[in-house]
Order: sequence, then structure tokens, then C-alpha cells
Amino acid sequence: LDNGEMRVPPMGWLAWERFRCDIDCAHDPKNCIRRVHPTFLSKQAYENLFIDMADRLSEDGWRELGYVYVNIDDCWSSMKRDEQGRLQADPKRFPGGIQKLARYMHDRGLKLGLYGDMGTHTCGGYPGTTLDKIDLDAQTLADWEVDMFKFDGCYSNATEQAKGYPLMSKALNATGRPIGYSCSWPAYQGGLPPKVNYTQLGEICNLWRNYGDIQDSWDSVLNIIDWFSENQAVLAPAAGPGKWNDPDMLIAGDFGLSMEQSRSQMALWAIMAAPLFMSNDLRTISSGARSILQNKMVITINQDAMGIQGRRIVKEKNDINVFWRPLSNNASALVFFSRRTDMPYRYQTTLGKLNYTAGSYMIYDVFTEKTMTLKDSTSFVVSVNPTGVVMWHVSAPAKWNFRQFYKGGRR
Ligand code: DGJ
Repeated sequence: LDNGEMRVPPMGWLAWERFRCDIDCAHDPKNCIRRVHPTFLSKQAYENLFIDMADRLSEDGWRELGYVYVNIDDCWSSMKRDEQGRLQADPKRFPGGIQKLARYMHDRGLKLGLYGDMGTHTCGGYPGTTLDKIDLDAQTLADWEVDMFKFDGCYSNATEQAKGYPLMSKALNATGRPIGYSCSWPAYQGGLPPKVNYTQLGEICNLWRNYGDIQDSWDSVLNIIDWFSENQAVLAPAAGPGKWNDPDMLIAGDFGLSMEQSRSQMALWAIMAAPLFMSNDLRTISSGARSILQNKMVITINQDAMGIQGRRIVKEKNDINVFWRPLSNNASALVFFSRRTDMPYRYQTTLGKLNYTAGSYMIYDVFTEKTMTLKDSTSFVVSVNPTGVVMWHVSAPAKWNFRQFYKGGRR
């Protein structure tokens, strides 16, 4: 969507995968989506979860790396619209209201995302946005100074969705406030043509969920990776500045992934030019998970300005897959991914076999932070751990660049 928003994949935090719709603070105080404020024990509120995450993003080095969105998901609203028919936040869980939360974010250089649903109800059973409410709800978001809107698709049919998603895009634009627009539409239509029209999606949405919800398990992550790889011929061309495929949230820091698997998710999401929305508890995240999510080179690769989505280029019988993404300035990224479950696998290949033909390259190993130079004809071995990755940033050595430049200039 050409609204000036999200020219590189958006980054931040999103409540859903980790915190769901758990509003039972009486029985589950540690995981429910509110926090006991030390001085006002009686004034517990859901909004504190988002305030806590905003504080962590701005104080623990996340914001500077680009993680700026704090996104509320389902279960934020009151069970009823107000007397003017507008959506309203649940007064107990959001005593300050959404606008106050948006201001809290803006004061810290962060942005606020909100959730709604094209349909009669949200998936969690809260008021949805039917076709007749689209203009009103878009205006409410703008009035509250919201920066991003995720439009889910429970409780509507294909015909209503085909009307509602483009109408919401127009309505958001008409408010005059720049609002990043995330569409769950394709996920509800199976994610593939002919039911899904990726040209149209690129024109009306900044990002879109193509596939099912991520869960806190490696099975789930692997299933998503496989679906996106199998369908890359359709999906990759749809992505670009302002329009991104969304394989769903990052779950490093939760309970389901090992460190290897967390690195794999991060590396492949970067290759796929995916939005990087973490869904974890930034108050208690381990230093291991944090260093994966805060790895500067992975983030740089994800945020590359050309915005070309990478692809799986090799699928070996030995269960090693290689992914490749072209980057600005003739650089690129490679991920060697092991689907094996036995032991570290020594994978032997050459850059030439991976379509590199310009001679000598500089290699930076993203997770070990080691550098080397490598000729396209030289055989090398990478040791890839089970369910893990080796990720490389590949660029031309400085000297080589210089000569190419002059050759090009004379021609
Ligand atoms: C389905 C979406 O795909 C999820 O990401 C989440 O928003 C839930 N609905 C909320 O009910």
C-alpha cells in the first residue's frame, strides 16, 4: 500500500501469541494481560502490560534497533459499542483509554497498534466491524492517534471480506492519519490464488497474514516455513516496500523453541522480509533470546531497502535447505538450514553452486560474527546444527568493488 508507511518491514511487539485473551487475573496473575501496579494493588489493568512492554522497548535497547510498534490484539474492547456506536476500550482493563496509551507510546518514540475484525465479532467474541461501521471505526482509530491497525477476519464470509478490506483501506486513508494496515484477509481465503489476489493486496494493505496462527512450538514454526517455501513463487513477488507477507509473530523468548530454533526463525524471517513482531515477555526474556532478537546484522538484512523477499534455492535430499535473499549494494544473505534431528551436519558446497559468479566475496557469519573471504569456486563446509541455521551476509570485498566501479565507468 502506497501510503508512505512501512517501506521496510515493520518491527515491534504484538500481544497475541504470548498473552492471548487471558483476562483472568484473579486466578492467573502472572500471565493475565494486566499487571499489579505496586502502589495501587486494586487498580490492576490490562493497559499496564502495554506500558510495561513500551518501557522495556525504550529502555532495553529495542527501540534503537527498530522495534517501535506496541500492538494490542484481541480482547481489548468493551462487549458493547458506546451510545454513538463507536468502539470503546474496556474501562476496567484500559482505565486510561486507547488515546492515552497512544500518547504514552509517542512520548517515547514508539507507535501503537490496535486490533479489529472485519465481521460481526472478533475471534474472541468482542464487537466486530461490519461493513456499515467501517468509516466510523477508521475515524475512531485516527481520533485515538493509533499508528497501525490489524484487521482480522472472523465472523464474515468471502463476499463481505472482498468488500470490507478494500473499504477499510480507503477509510483509513480518508482520515488523513498515516496508519499501517495489516490485513488478515488472505489467511481466511487459504492464502493462494485464485482466491487471493496479491496484486490487489499490495495496493490496499501494508502487510497481510497469509497463513495460520503461529503457536509456541517448533512444529508450528516449521510448518509455517514449509508453507511459505512451497508457495514462494506466488508469495515472494507480492512483497516489496510498503507491502509485506506476514508469516506471523516471532516467538523467541517463549517456551517452545530452543536457541537453535529461535535463531532459525529469526534468520528465515529476515530472509523472507517478514514483519518482526515479537510476542514474548520482554520483562523476563533470557539474555540468549534477547541477543538473537537484537542481532544487528539479521535486522539489517531484514530491513534492506530494496525489500526483495528471499527464497529457498536449494532443497537437498540430506535435509539441508539453502535460502538466499538479494540485498542492496550487490550484497546478499544466505541461510543454511538443517531440518535434520540427528547431529551437526557438515554441508559441503561452493558459492558457485549457489549462483555466485563474480569471483571473490566477503563473508560475515551473522551469529558467530566471524569474517572471511571466499572464492566462488572454492569448496567449503558449514556445520549446521539440528533444526538450526548458519547465516551469512555476503558482499563484494572492497578492492573488488573499486575495480568494478572503474570498469563500469569507462564503458
Ligand atoms: C486470529 C488471528 O490470526 C490471530 O493473530 C489473533 O489476532 C486472533 N485471531 C485473536 O482472536
